Parts: sequence; structure tokens; C-alpha cells
Amino acid sequence: MIRGIIFDLDGVIVDTAKYHYLAWQRMAQKLGVKFTEEENEQLKGVSRRGSIEKIMNWGGITLPEHEIEHWMKVKNEWYLEYVEAMSPSEILPGAAEIIAEAKSLGLKISLGSASKNSQFILERVGLIQEFDALVDGNVVSASKPDPEVFLTGAKLLQLDPEECIVFEDAVAGVQAAKNGNMTVVGIGDETVLQEADFNFQSMADFSLKSDIIEKI
Ligand code: BG6
Ligand code: MG
Repeated sequence: MIRGIIFDLDGVIVDTAKYHYLAWQRMAQKLGVKFTEEENEQLKGVSRRGSIEKIMNWGGITLPEHEIEHWMKVKNEWYLEYVEAMSPSEILPGAAEIIAEAKSLGLKISLGSASKNSQFILERVGLIQEFDALVDGNVVSASKPDPEVFLTGAKLLQLDPEECIVFEDAVAGVQAAKNGNMTVVGIGDETVLQEADFNFQSMADFSLKSDIIEKI
């Protein structure tokens, strides 16, 4: 029996990948390394630290620890400048409707994100009050595909993992949900998110009750 829903944030509720890209690109330019949109795709679901390590690796550079810390801070300041201008119009198609449907079905709702900016973003787009629990990069230590972020969400909702459905757009996130014994819905390219139990191109393409819950 499904009693709870856990949403990833970036790429499921809001399209912030473009802002992460702009901020990482600004940093890459200052460091004199190339950083492409294709590489940015590979940063989906990856922590801030994991992302800068990948960018350094792709660019063939290494930086001392204090510079890594410096650039993570600067990148985040740039990212927050973009995010600050966000409004409810930037909620991805279908996301608000699925949240409303979950509420009408009496399901509990948690966030399960790697971001340390999740509360700020949910406030900007006016969805913060819809969540019964917020689990993000500030509270968990292990990165997806470790299931910690989703297991913590289930625990805060006082549910067993088997009672939860996770919505994810990143391969590592789909794997994290599977590793946590949850039903997972992949949002995006089906060929990339093959390990998901259900796949849809976008949050606007299904009904929670008839396309997912009644088919579990
Ligand atoms: C994930 C994003 O949700 O959060 C990643 O997909 C991002 O691109 C990660 O790096 C960490 O986010 P933040 O906001 O803490 O830098
Ligand atoms: Mg995501």
C-alpha cells in the first residue's frame, strides 16, 4: 500500500539544471577549462563537491583544497543569484498537479534532494508548504546512489520504504531509490533511466492514481 511520495527537486519539480550550468560555466571560464552542456548533463544528481571534482577531471586540472572550497562557494553565490529570480512560473509542467493529486489521495510528501539550496528554491516557487518533510544535502552525508536521502525521507514520514514512491530524473537517483526498496518513477529519457519501475517523459504525462498506484 502506497502512503508516501518522495520527490527529487532539480529536474523533477524545477528546471534548475540550466542555472547550475551557467554558474559552473562561469567558474570553468575563470579557470580556463572547457565545460560543455553534455558534460553538465552528467552532473545531474551529483553533489556540489562531486561536480567540481568532475569538472576539474574533465579539464585535466587539480586544485589545492582551499581553492576547491573557494570555487564551490563562488559557484553557489552565482547560482543563488539566478535562483533568487525564480517564481512559480518555473515549476516544471505537471509537478504542481502531481503534488496536488498526492494531497487529495491523502499521501504524505517528502523532498529527497542532493541540493543544499532546496528550502530556498521551494520558497521561491511557492511550494514549501506542501511538504511534510524536507531531506536534502544539508541533512544527509552519503550521495545518491546511496539510498540514505530517500530512507531518511521515509523515516521522517513514518513510513516503510515499500510504502513510498520516488520521482527522479537522474540515473544515480533511480538507483538510490531501488537500493532503498522503493517504487521509482523515472522522469525523462526512458533509455537512460532504464532501472526505473515506471517511465514518463515529464511530470505532465501521467495520473498518480491510475497510471502508477493502481498498477503497483
Ligand atoms: C542536485 C543537482 O539536485 O543537487 C546537482 O542535480 C547539484 O546538479 C546538486 O550539484 C547539489 O546542489 P547544490 O544546490 O547544493 O549545489
Ligand atoms: Mg534531479
